[in-house]
Amino acid sequence: MYFTTCLTLFLSPNQGFMLNYELLLQENKTWAADMLKADPDFFNKLSELQTPEYLWIGCSDSRVPANQITGTMPGEIFVHRNVANLVVNTDVNVLSVLDFAVNHLKVKHVIVCGHYGCGGIKAAISNNDFKPVLNMWLRNIKDVYRIHRSELDLLQDDDKKTNRLVELNVMEQVFNLAKTSIIQRAWKNEQRPDLHGWVYGLKDGLIKPVYEMKAGTHIDALYEYDNL
Ligand code: CO
Repeated sequence: MYFTTCLTLFLSPNQGFMLNYELLLQENKTWAADMLKADPDFFNKLSELQTPEYLWIGCSDSRVPANQITGTMPGEIFVHRNVANLVVNTDVNVLSVLDFAVNHLKVKHVIVCGHYGCGGIKAAISNNDFKPVLNMWLRNIKDVYRIHRSELDLLQDDDKKTNRLVELNVMEQVFNLAKTSIIQRAWKNEQRPDLHGWVYGLKDGLIKPVYEMKAGTHIDALYEYDNL
């Protein structure tokens, strides 16, 4: 055992000492066996095809796992997560996910789900220099604050300010989705997907819908393409 000084060790009843990350692999075996017990065909079916109806764009925060908090199973939600659930129009990652989900998986709903107490939102409100890469990302949230400054500046309580910006940020990200030609083309040709802005409560586990945009909704004409 070379690693004993720097890594935490756990005693496993079956295999003696295990490195802590190995517990994840152990748990995976148990989970896969349980799934097969409930439905012997579960993995066969899923390995052939995924037909999720939902695209989830959520925060990377470890406390907001899309499937668990919505009671859904593998295969039901296509997921993209990043810090503070942003839809940035130069982000190849989120746009690739959106393109694939809308044009290939044909999802019916796109959900942007933020969460109260979001660390990314708090960081964006602060004046701290988080160094280049995080500063670049958080700038998008500062821009949302600026758009809603007249409302947010009135809130004295820091938590209230953070949580209202969480809601407004989710709404702005729904707008950002609607500004893409990916969404506008799908709206024009297939009258889907509907867009949803939700906020998850870390303290009660409940999701609050805060904004909804039905397929085909008109947005600021400046952003609407007429030759889709
Ligand atoms: Co967060």
